[in-house]
Amino acid sequence: MKKTIILGIETSCDDTSAAVLEDGVLLSNVIASQSVHQEFGGVVPELASRAHQANIIPVINTAINRAGISKNDISAVAFTRGPGLLGSLLVGTSFAKSFALSQNIPIIEVNHLQAHVLAHFIAEKNEEFNPPKFPFLCLLVSGGNSQIILAKNYDDFEVIGQTIDDAAGEAFDKCAKVMNLPYPGGPFVDKLAKEGNADAFVFSKPNIAGFDYSFSGLKTSFLYFLRDRIKENPDFIEQNKADLCASLQKTIIDILMKKLILAAQQLKINQVAVAGGVSANSGLRTAFLEMGEKFGWQVYIPKFAFTTDNAAMVAITGHFKYLKGDFCDISLTPFARVEI
Ligand code: KG4
Repeated sequence: MKKTIILGIETSCDDTSAAVLEDGVLLSNVIASQSVHQEFGGVVPELASRAHQANIIPVINTAINRAGISKNDISAVAFTRGPGLLGSLLVGTSFAKSFALSQNIPIIEVNHLQAHVLAHFIAEKNEEFNPPKFPFLCLLVSGGNSQIILAKNYDDFEVIGQTIDDAAGEAFDKCAKVMNLPYPGGPFVDKLAKEGNADAFVFSKPNIAGFDYSFSGLKTSFLYFLRDRIKENPDFIEQNKADLCASLQKTIIDILMKKLILAAQQLKINQVAVAGGVSANSGLRTAFLEMGEKFGWQVYIPKFAFTTDNAAMVAITGHFKYLKGDFCDISLTPFARVEI
């Protein structure tokens, strides 16, 4: 039987990525990250689109070569339609359309958030494959999102809780910036937290109803706390950086886990996954394992390569849509904002 080979393309923010999947098994996943934003302390949209334009052809060529296939073997192209930066999304969308037209193959639009959740279904050669069973809960935490998603099937997702202001990744990054850490700050906070005392400082936690999150209060309390301490001791941050990072990280994890535990209890679900860039956080990963033990959850934590933006997750989402014949029209345009 003819194999289903999907080329996945991801250009929603500042990573240009392409992946090739054969019958749901990953053959290659190439990611070119953009260092150009570092000096600005955040992603500069125009620079991101230009870097995608420079990267997209080499990245796709490399993905096809590493997969050991020819471009003529590809059954369909899946691309991220949104949410993301419009200029960045346009590069991937335009490439996907042109490639599909030139090869006379279908194109498949992919929701970036859905792709993060379905990253748990990427199978790899010679590796155990143990995906979550439906229905499962997925905590999706990234630079732009903090959501609790109830995944009922590959194409049936319900957002049961989400942040009403900042995302968890933003809380990491903005607090890191106040401590003069490089952008994005999340990985630096994680690293420093390992050497600090998580109970050294106490920061405010939100009191929000239901399964929703809020991180803006924490950000403000962190900022004011530092402002007051610096008045007394200008070297306060430098002298307490590891403790600050550990305490901040613990607060963010406590906020995230509290609502997830509530959701799992109320919905009586014991399949619990985590996804998105912040799921690379070592403290959050440990908390997941501990809560799994404590509450009898089956926990699903993605490999590091599938936590941040990557095209393998776009390709697997495309694979499921391909099997259903869920293709899109060449006239379609990207979306900066879209729900899961
Ligand atoms: O999913 P992602 O790559 O991009 C989007 O937001 O679309 O997530 C990036 C976010 C950033 O806020 C970054 O600081 C955070 O993930 N992040 C981390 C860690 N690694 C990445 N946050 C905490 N600890 C980490 N180890």
